[in-house]
Amino acid sequence: MTAVGIDAIEIWTGNLKLDLPGTFAPEKGEDPEKYTKGLGLNASSFPDSYEDIVTMGANASHRLMERKGLEPDGIGRIDVATESSFDNSKPVSTYVAGCLEGVFEGDFHHANKGERKFACIAGTQSLDDAYNWIRADRNRGRSALVIATDTALYARGDAGEATQGAGAVAMLISENPDLVELSTEQGYGSADETDFLKPNQQFPSVDGKRSVQVYLARMREALTDYESVAGDVHPDDIAFIPFHTPFPGMVRKAGLLGYRHITRDTTIEDDLADEIGRQPRREAFDDDEAFRDSVREYMDLLKGTDRYKAWYDATIDPTLTLSREVGNWYTGSVHIARVSALKNALEAGRDMAGETILVGSYGSGAQAEIHAETVQDGWTDEIEALNVDDQLADRYDLSWADYEEVHDVHNHEMDVDVEEFTTPDGEFVFDGWGRMGERK
Ligand code: CAA
Repeated sequence: MTAVGIDAIEIWTGNLKLDLPGTFAPEKGEDPEKYTKGLGLNASSFPDSYEDIVTMGANASHRLMERKGLEPDGIGRIDVATESSFDNSKPVSTYVAGCLEGVFEGDFHHANKGERKFACIAGTQSLDDAYNWIRADRNRGRSALVIATDTALYARGDAGEATQGAGAVAMLISENPDLVELSTEQGYGSADETDFLKPNQQFPSVDGKRSVQVYLARMREALTDYESVAGDVHPDDIAFIPFHTPFPGMVRKAGLLGYRHITRDTTIEDDLADEIGRQPRREAFDDDEAFRDSVREYMDLLKGTDRYKAWYDATIDPTLTLSREVGNWYTGSVHIARVSALKNALEAGRDMAGETILVGSYGSGAQAEIHAETVQDGWTDEIEALNVDDQLADRYDLSWADYEEVHDVHNHEMDVDVEEFTTPDGEFVFDGWGRMGERK
């Protein structure tokens, strides 16, 4: 069977940066370590006044097409995954295609375009759609362009405000890919949940603490479901586990859950079960307080063991480097976690070709998905080509007053104008409706 997977990835960060320990913490009267150690974040990316989900998605795609020497004729499908859509009719992919048609030869009239929504998991679902389209042999030799783009903003004063972020990830899905081959096996955990919603509103209504529990519950189900089709996962067979990363502290919890699950190490947990006088009721995870307390206690003990620390440092921590500097990118988050892991491997001089990555995607509402990927021979060239470090270093550092202005500019209910903080450098910009996607 011909391999199908991700041929290339490009990342585009919002051009502004909010320093969490230096600027956000003092303003909130909080200890900076709540953000750096607790949530695990140093900074968030923000869009400048001329940026939005279209410009960021188009800029990432433009870099990707230029680098891979692609013209529109080589792309038969454009899917945008976003939970920041501003148009309930026209998909964001049509806006992005419009931008790209202005700079490449030919057009995308032949291409199937769409928009996927299921909170943060939609990026992975679009990847699946592209994979299935190619596997079904409907692609006529063409590749698919999948774009995950979001401005992850919360209302000011909301607990989620510290976890904001903005950026886009563009991925080219092809036969015989250069970066990773996707596995056919998948596992799901899916349930109707109401912990994170935006019913006809821009900023989410969130029950933050519950959302963490729902993430873990669905992820555990997805792992179990994945193993029911792919067989047991063994820790030694997995190089990295990039999880959806709303903030690295969330992934610390997911890492513990993953470790417990795939090592099947129940020693500490069994001791705790003895203490509470019964086995925890797994099926009632959300409701069983005693079980939750026992799991928390177990996790705290496990976290302190050398064997867990060594596994976490090798398998999970490298996935978090980029996230720490950019915050939550919703649909793009799990995809920058993958890049982060491979980038760290490249910098460490590690040979990753043939290695397996287990990807844990998640979207509120709620659904988790697990699949495996095999790193391909061309991975070093693909990761070396990224300029994400330069992009991060070039961001404008917002003062608190700047931040409030920028937040208001991107608040759809406010009608404010501010000067740009940065100067566009050969990129698509939002310059008012009707003149969208000009390149400056
Ligand atoms: N030093 C070190 N650590 C500190 C600290 C300090 N001075 N002060 C606090 N901490 C730790 C806390 O102990 C806590 O860690 P644990 O969870 O491991 O105990 C961590 O820092 C955060 O502190 P709080 O729980 O007090 O923080 P909070 O209540 O202000 O906010 C949150 C946390 C509720 C998750 C909030 O960030 C939020 O609402 N986020 C948005 C929702 C979200 O991201 N949910 C994740 C799952 S849903 C999802 O994944 C989809 C998605 O993308 C949104």
